Amino acid sequence: MSNVFPIGSFASLKTPFYHYDLPLLSQTLSAIHTAIAPHHNFQVHYAIKANANPVILQTIARSGLGADCVSGGEIEAALYAGFPAEKIVFAGVGKADWEIELALRAGIACFNVESLPELEVINACALAMGRVANVAFRVNPNVDAHTHAKITTGLNENKFGIAMEDLLPAIRRAAEMQGVRYVGMHFHIGSQILELDVFDRLSERINQLQDELEAAGIHTSSINVGGGLGIDYAEPDAHPIPAFADYFGRFAHHLRLRAGQQLHFELGRSVVAQCGTLISRALYVKHGHTKDFLIIDAGFTELIRPAMYGSSHAIQNLTAAVGSAEAVYDVVGPICESSDVFGKDVTLAEAHRGDLIALRSAGAYGEVMASTYNCRRLPQSHFTFADK
Ligand code: LLP
Repeated sequence: MSNVFPIGSFASLKTPFYHYDLPLLSQTLSAIHTAIAPHHNFQVHYAIKANANPVILQTIARSGLGADCVSGGEIEAALYAGFPAEKIVFAGVGKADWEIELALRAGIACFNVESLPELEVINACALAMGRVANVAFRVNPNVDAHTHAKITTGLNENKFGIAMEDLLPAIRRAAEMQGVRYVGMHFHIGSQILELDVFDRLSERINQLQDELEAAGIHTSSINVGGGLGIDYAEPDAHPIPAFADYFGRFAHHLRLRAGQQLHFELGRSVVAQCGTLISRALYVKHGHTKDFLIIDAGFTELIRPAMYGSSHAIQNLTAAVGSAEAVYDVVGPICESSDVFGKDVTLAEAHRGDLIALRSAGAYGEVMASTYNCRRLPQSHFTFADK
């Protein structure tokens, strides 16, 4: 199932661009559906923030997943792509009034509420519109996700969610309001999580909370455990599809769901990362005094993850023939910032001006985080539609 690129068809395309392997996306979606099939009360919402390319969204919507949105723009994109409103959840620490109104008008499934002031505003908007909003409280479970500090969200010092000890008062406050209905708890502890026992800890924390809520006579109809499942950036061809069955199995095993309770997931990266590749061209090979630089025409304007999180993406020279000589390069982009580096001391097939250079596993948080810094143009996207 390795990703073989149709490089013949790339020859005439302007680089840099994103290439999406839609058959791999479909196989990934099938793997998700197969993995959740034994768990009738599990539902997956795709986290739109990972990739909002319309073709990607339509493919995911058609497969039957719901959508997890964090802005009014994402709700619009989800509706436009065909996600039904009743499968859309809306999270985010700073929902503006117009975004709340848009969500209420559309009739989304649930607001993931992150503070009491936000609850008051949702209630006021819903009353003014004659609606009742389903709300889940995002709870900060203080579980360490053992991932990059900038993508850890479940610790106490984060801006997200409300502390566990504040949950009960928040639910009681919601019960006094006419414009909101408490339906559940929402969690998200971080992203690119590879140590799956972190999810066991989260499940145990949720079990404790559920016991406390039940003791207080509170009924919870849905639990949302967010996203976070990581992918293999080092060897995308060895692991093109994440181990979804292991991931869902963790929750099935450790989380004590009550009768009739739904368990929601918000997967982003694990759905789309491996189907996307940033394709660029080698501009220059610069022989420095201590190292060689491979300067490519993509920069952090197209893929900001290495500069922002120090993350690495596998880099390949697609033009070089199999078995050709290798060389070691610092692979860098054209942006006028020293952080515009994709990899240091990277071994790849010897590169020449014009070679196609691939940055793999870029389908999540790639195109969607592109910018026009340095007055650059946003990257185009191209697709492989049929099976190779
Ligand atoms: N749900 C919530 C509430 C989230 O905040 C996120 C991601 C997700 C779901 C989806 O998480 P995933 O399954 O993709 O891990 N730009 C960073 C990642 C930021 C993640 C933000 N929240 C990166 O490139 O690594």
